[in-house]
Amino acid sequence: MSSNQADVAAREFATAVMIGLSDHPRWLPCRFLYDERGSRLFDAICETPEYYLTRTESSILAASAADIRDLTGPVTLIELGSGSSRKTGHLLAAYSNHARSVHYVPVDVSEAALRTGSAAMSVAYPAVRVTGIHGTYDAAFPLLGELSPAMLVFLGSTVGNFNQTEAARFWSDVAAHLVPGDFVLLGVDLVKDPGLITAAYNDVAGHSAEFTRNVFHRMNRELGAGLDLGQIDHVAGYNPEWQRIEIFARFACEQTVHLRPLGRDVRVRAGERIMTEISRKFVLDELEQYLASFGFELRQVFTDDRRWFAVLLLQVPRRA
Ligand code: AVJ
Repeated sequence: MSSNQADVAAREFATAVMIGLSDHPRWLPCRFLYDERGSRLFDAICETPEYYLTRTESSILAASAADIRDLTGPVTLIELGSGSSRKTGHLLAAYSNHARSVHYVPVDVSEAALRTGSAAMSVAYPAVRVTGIHGTYDAAFPLLGELSPAMLVFLGSTVGNFNQTEAARFWSDVAAHLVPGDFVLLGVDLVKDPGLITAAYNDVAGHSAEFTRNVFHRMNRELGAGLDLGQIDHVAGYNPEWQRIEIFARFACEQTVHLRPLGRDVRVRAGERIMTEISRKFVLDELEQYLASFGFELRQVFTDDRRWFAVLLLQVPRRA
């Protein structure tokens, strides 16, 4: 990144922080959690005994990758929020077993994660040609038409990070940009015993807490925020009515957030909470109906024995 690009990025970050912290209740966009350090912390969460999501989804993909390939035939795999790309390896293995070459297009806001993930996949699967895209999901939409026949891969229940407005916009965009006949492979965490869900976001080793604090760590580094991270607590609980985990940063004492690129300050009082992330959990029947309202047809559901997690293969109907 040139210093000018870094300035632009810092102003964008500062502006987003200013908007969220000036709102009531206060909030922050979750994508800023995923810089290089954040992506590493998230990988550490995935390894904890409490965080069942990654392990469960990975085993579903390992068991069903060949079936998924047989259902879609040869397609370009475009993955949103690819991170380390580790789970996608199961798919790339299956697709490259049946084709001389497979095109894989990972999209991620973390340049570091994108580089490492892409390199690992190229080495592990020589038949896979990787075109990494550094950016938000919006960067990928205009490319979908050219990449058809395609399968948009969106794993890890990352779709659960969207609020209702964001989700509706996202699915309209996907439906508008995918070509009829193209596929979506969607990984979602399912509604289950709230105790199990809550534990996954409060691991004993403390990686979840460190991950939540990472956005403030990043503010200190990139915005000169001047925050004492020891006075910021991680609070994550399940909201049954909204079927979602809600994650907050609670300020133990009053602190002033300096936003150097904007020359402005925001004061947060003792005991105040800032929402940093939500993680929706899904009920399969409800989700199928919701996706059908955007025109997606459910081709197959792959799940684990305990029905904790599901991978859905969806298709945009071909025109009659
Ligand atoms: C990457 C969005 C799927 O919601 O479970 C995990 C992020 N945050 N622990 C999730 C997360 C805290 C994760 N997603």
